[in-house]
Amino acid sequence: MKTSKNNLLFLFFNLCIISVQINAEERKPYIVYMGDLHEDTQDSIFLMDEHHSLLSEAIGDELIARNSKIHSYGKSFNGFVAKLLPREAEFLSKKDGVVSVFPNKVQKLRTTRSWDFLGMPMTVKRKQEESDMIVALMDSGIYVQSPSFNDKGYGPPPAKWKGKCVKAGNFTGCNNKVIGAQYFLLEKDGPLEEKSPADLDGHGSHTASTAAGNTVHGASLYGIAEGTARGGVPSARLAIYKICWTLGCSDMDILAAYDAAIADGVDIISLSLGGYPRDFFEDPIAIGSFHAMKKGILTSCAAGNDGPVLSTVGNVAPWILTVAASSIDRRYETPVTLGNGEKFTGNAINTFETNESMYSLTNGAHAQNISGDPMGNASACEYGTLSQNKVKGKILYCIGYLGQDSIVDELGGAGIIMSDYSRDTAYPNLIPGTFVSIKDGAKIDKYINSTRNAQAVISKTVTANMTAPFIASFSSRGPQTLSSNILKPDIAAPGLDILAAYSQLTTMSGDPSDERVVKFSIMSGTSMACPHVSGAAAYVKSFHPDWSVAAIKSALMTTAKSMKIRPDEAELASGSGQINPKVALHPGLVYDIQYDDYISFLCKQGYNSSTIAMLTGNKKYNCSNFPVAKGADGLNYPTMHVYLNSSQSSFSEVFYRTVTNVGYGKSVYRASIRSPNGLSITVVPKILTFNGPNQKRSFKVMVNGKFLQASSWVLSGRLVWSDSKHNVRSPILICRTTNRTLL
Ligand SMILES: *[C@@H]1O[C@H](CO)[C@@H](O)[C@H](O)[C@H]1NC(C)=O
Ligand SMILES: *[C@@H]1O[C@H](CO)[C@@H](O)[C@H](O)[C@H]1NC(C)=O
Ligand SMILES: *[C@@H]1O[C@H](CO)[C@@H](O)[C@H](O)[C@H]1NC(C)=O
Ligand SMILES: *[C@@H]1O[C@H](CO)[C@@H](O)[C@H](O)[C@H]1NC(C)=O
Ligand SMILES: *[C@@H]1O[C@H](CO)[C@@H](O)[C@H](O)[C@H]1NC(C)=O
Ligand SMILES: *[C@@H]1O[C@H](CO)[C@@H](O)[C@H](O)[C@H]1NC(C)=O
Ligand SMILES: *[C@@H]1O[C@H](CO)[C@@H](O)[C@H](O)[C@H]1NC(C)=O
Ligand SMILES: *[C@@H]1O[C@H](CO)[C@@H](O)[C@H](O)[C@H]1NC(C)=O
Ligand SMILES: *[C@@H]1O[C@H](CO)[C@@H](O)[C@H](O)[C@H]1NC(C)=O
Ligand SMILES: *[C@@H]1O[C@H](CO)[C@@H](O)[C@H](O)[C@H]1NC(C)=O
Repeated sequence: MKTSKNNLLFLFFNLCIISVQINAEERKPYIVYMGDLHEDTQDSIFLMDEHHSLLSEAIGDELIARNSKIHSYGKSFNGFVAKLLPREAEFLSKKDGVVSVFPNKVQKLRTTRSWDFLGMPMTVKRKQEESDMIVALMDSGIYVQSPSFNDKGYGPPPAKWKGKCVKAGNFTGCNNKVIGAQYFLLEKDGPLEEKSPADLDGHGSHTASTAAGNTVHGASLYGIAEGTARGGVPSARLAIYKICWTLGCSDMDILAAYDAAIADGVDIISLSLGGYPRDFFEDPIAIGSFHAMKKGILTSCAAGNDGPVLSTVGNVAPWILTVAASSIDRRYETPVTLGNGEKFTGNAINTFETNESMYSLTNGAHAQNISGDPMGNASACEYGTLSQNKVKGKILYCIGYLGQDSIVDELGGAGIIMSDYSRDTAYPNLIPGTFVSIKDGAKIDKYINSTRNAQAVISKTVTANMTAPFIASFSSRGPQTLSSNILKPDIAAPGLDILAAYSQLTTMSGDPSDERVVKFSIMSGTSMACPHVSGAAAYVKSFHPDWSVAAIKSALMTTAKSMKIRPDEAELASGSGQINPKVALHPGLVYDIQYDDYISFLCKQGYNSSTIAMLTGNKKYNCSNFPVAKGADGLNYPTMHVYLNSSQSSFSEVFYRTVTNVGYGKSVYRASIRSPNGLSITVVPKILTFNGPNQKRSFKVMVNGKFLQASSWVLSGRLVWSDSKHNVRSPILICRTTNRTLL
């Protein structure tokens, strides 16, 4: 999970499959998922027996079967992990009681101001119950010694907490803030690293403090982004489930963490991990969050960092809150001044003080080692192409961004200027460094080529204002195809250049040669956006402890601030918009979804009755005695979306919706509609009258129209229900396949 800088996705939890040597007769870990616990399988001895007998039957040898089992799940759902041959996996997948069998994969992990920006100042109204909220982080562990996790003033853990604290290695133990910490590393021949919940990476401490870190005044990264650091729910408790190690985060460990967390009594689960399209019930995050949802536990997930390419969004199950990354109104500028006085504004996190003097400036082409790597690109400062004596003590200008800072550092360079393609994200470097636009880069290159003693200085980063919010370029975009009429991502939250707690068990860059060990660091990614939403969800739940997962989701989504959208991607980047937690406390109406509604939806998705019976652990759940989910999407979702086939230019679809009045007393809501040319939206009825709280009213939304031009592929409208106090907003997005949406 070490962050690497050799591509633009630096710092992100991206997904990658670790390729293992393929040996035809070598058993590899598979997850055998068996759905919910039946009433008669609550007994763990019974479960283990069931798993062993299935395995023995598949393998045909009791001893090998015993040795091949890695772990039995059974606290919150049924299943196990075992080392199997492909044919044994195939055999098990056909057995009664088995929902799915899938190979274990490894997913990579790839002030602060943000809460103020979201309209939640320190003085925001809070409930006493906030301190009963338990936010679970499934990540790289925690650095409990950080001031963000200090427990001064916290009472004992809430009585509902049933989790564990595993004190080991560099993890010094829990406190009344971090009330639980466990680690999951089921693969015995995994990496040789300390087995403890300690955060040896920084990512886990960063996300945990964003969700629920306590208030720390005077937080900064070497004076950059100085302010008061705090989480969305500073008085809530944290439960840590370490699932990410240097090699990544394994499916079987994610499931084990879910199995524990649901039973431990957490309220919200925050999971800043990548995801990629897999059937819902072959995806540990979709499976875990499904069982969590049944117990009223919301999972908030990162949408992924594969944008701005369309159709890249992950973690799309409709019971998950899928989070895109937006900007706040602050950016980090790292200026460069040339010897001729010319100044350029670079974008980077440069923690190094300059000594006000100029440094010799050269470029990769001039610093080339003639006898170096002949295949390498010296202008880009690629490894092996530069001459140490031409680099030492100088600032290097390098074309492109390949993470060349470590190369220049190794050769004794004084600094680095790179020309960057993604200028919205400020990355740190091992040495004084910055990224300039391609245009400015060419000017700097020209100055170097035309000047005998070219010089430059790179200044320390300064904070500047900018217009916000917008969606970060790296944030993954829709549309998705697993349940193609559900709009994903759902919502956006700050994920660009976020200051939060870090681990002092590693260096700022993770590079052992880096001497910067920091209490707070600045990171970017949908990984950083996700815990903002987890914190906001915990905030809403602290006011409305009885709300379902869908009600909390709906409250956050219908009150989100609509963002300025780019016409070529519309809400496929931002979902409903940027979270607005204070307003989400009083959404007026919610689009609620009960467990049974998800089952109808899954039946509509094509899961058959035997799968549904296993999934729910109950034969009564059978698609044939369930009402068929109606409408384009078959779910009472707070957004409305249709993803059409490319051949279709006209469309006519209906959405069936039911809203629940969560306001006080009587109210009358009127529908207002906005729709672009080509899209006609009709709501029936147009007025909803409520006589009291918790009343439900149903309506339908008919969308008809056509794409007016052959090249147009997205039509974005909206429906808003308003009474005198609330605006309940739903984007309505119609799009169709184009050569841009096909990956
Ligand atoms: C500035 O000077 C200090 C002490 O002389 C030195 O450690 C540091 O590396 C210098 N900074 C730069 C950017 O050269
Ligand atoms: C140039 O490259 C060669 C071959 O890799 C290497 O042996 C030599 O040390 C390099 N010269 C300098 C000055 O870095
Ligand atoms: C070297 O890399 C840069 C940046 O990626 C690229 O623009 C340039 O064309 C490359 N040059 C060669 C000779 O490949
Ligand atoms: C600077 O010189 C290098 C090496 O001759 C060349 O590759 C590069 O294109 C020049 N840059 C500009 C902006 O002219
Ligand atoms: C940024 O905006 C704030 C007000 O929103 C203002 O007080 C501050 O001076 C601005 N800073 C800069 C560098 O423009
Ligand atoms: C963890 O603790 C051990 C000694 O207890 C120490 O040697 C090791 O360096 C520590 N690991 C990290 C990452 O700090
Ligand atoms: C139900 O679906 C599963 C998975 O697609 C399949 O293996 C099974 O045979 C199906 N069962 C029936 C009764 O159609
Ligand atoms: C579902 O119900 C139908 C009709 O009532 C029945 O034929 C079928 O066996 C049931 N399926 C399961 C898995 O119970
Ligand atoms: C979508 O269109 C393709 C051909 O353009 C066709 O093969 C496919 O069956 C269509 N799918 C649906 C769901 O209509
Ligand atoms: C996609 O199709 C449009 C016309 O329909 C065309 O102009 C464009 O070049 C195509 N883009 C790609 C990447 O093929």
